[in-house]
Amino acid sequence: MANFNTVFVTGGAGYIGSHCIVELLEAGYSVIAIDNFANSVNGEHGEAPSLKRVEQITGKPVIFYQCDLLDKSKLEEIFSKHKIDCVIHFASMKAVGESMQVPLLYYKNNIVGTINLLEVMKQNNCYQLVFSSSCTVYGNPEYLPITEEHPTGDVTNVYGRTKYFIEEMLKDISAAEKNWNIISLRYFNPVGAHPSGLIGEDPTKAFTNLMPYMAQVAIGNKESLTIFGGDYDTVDGTGVRDYIHVMDLASGHVAALDKLNKEHLRLKVYNLGLGTGLSVKELVHEFEEVTGVHIPYALGPRRVGDVDSLVCDGSLAVTELQWQPKYDVKMMCRDFWRWQTMNPNGYRSETATAAKLNGTTLAVNGKQLNGH
Ligand code: UFG
Repeated sequence: MANFNTVFVTGGAGYIGSHCIVELLEAGYSVIAIDNFANSVNGEHGEAPSLKRVEQITGKPVIFYQCDLLDKSKLEEIFSKHKIDCVIHFASMKAVGESMQVPLLYYKNNIVGTINLLEVMKQNNCYQLVFSSSCTVYGNPEYLPITEEHPTGDVTNVYGRTKYFIEEMLKDISAAEKNWNIISLRYFNPVGAHPSGLIGEDPTKAFTNLMPYMAQVAIGNKESLTIFGGDYDTVDGTGVRDYIHVMDLASGHVAALDKLNKEHLRLKVYNLGLGTGLSVKELVHEFEEVTGVHIPYALGPRRVGDVDSLVCDGSLAVTELQWQPKYDVKMMCRDFWRWQTMNPNGYRSETATAAKLNGTTLAVNGKQLNGH
């Protein structure tokens, strides 16, 4: 049996990465994180404000390097400095719309970046990997709820194809080389934030996902929400998704690492979702109820590449990973709202430089951060 201690996390400063690092530290792992700040806020001296907050939450240190996966020599340098037992690979460009406009950039970043990572892992005799995949690999589902056996590959966008191609690559390398021990986690729709309100979703690119956009409307930064399509074959005509609290997603990664620690699987795939479908209108309603804020919306045309419904069968992760999701939709809305209201400008919150944790005030950076 392996005995993992040090986890290398790519994309560690990002939304899912930072929440996962909280869970990893709390589970007793040491963490070395990298990020290129392509879609997360960077600090003045190359530090990651999100990870500073992670250190506040956990009281534990995170070793961080600003590093792009395309910079293979830097990656090699980091691996040579530390003894890394396993890797969680979050780093990825992930905007569906953008991926259709700049496909080459997506293929290069996501696929070449992953190849570099796998090569450096191999050079260092590190074969334990948790890969951040997506339900987008299922395309327009043939049946619901979606199990892991559902066919993949008929993907509607370039971003999703990069995830699909990487999954195929992982299949091939794990079949060819028996050392690899890989879990690919197919996420449904991650939302919410850490219950402390100290970390949350703060993309540096434009908001395109439903919950962050809705929260922007709620705090008055945007006028109203446009619901993309009211004529889907769903309960009320609006798109149905399987929303999952980001802390449940994070604990799913710790459960996956525990599994890899105990068993040599070569390659296994798990869905991470609650198995509950919620329409856009239903989520808006829940958000209004939890926050007490009215969200004005207008029905608009469908968004290219969207599908009617994506709902998973998440039972395999529950039984095989002993994963126990704990948060319902009200908690997802409550925690996202807490993060949003405590940090109206996210990690760039110079006007509201104080975030509150248990009544104590935490000062966060005195000056405007780079790039904003
Ligand atoms: N939606 C709106 N208005 C908005 C934003 C979203 O009506 O302003 C709707 C979408 O049409 C969809 C639902 O809200 O029905 C959820 O949309 P998101 O953009 O929040 O999430 P998606 O399901 O489109 O995308 C997520 C991930 C992607 C991943 C995809 C897989 O963000 O990375 O799931 O389907 F590829």
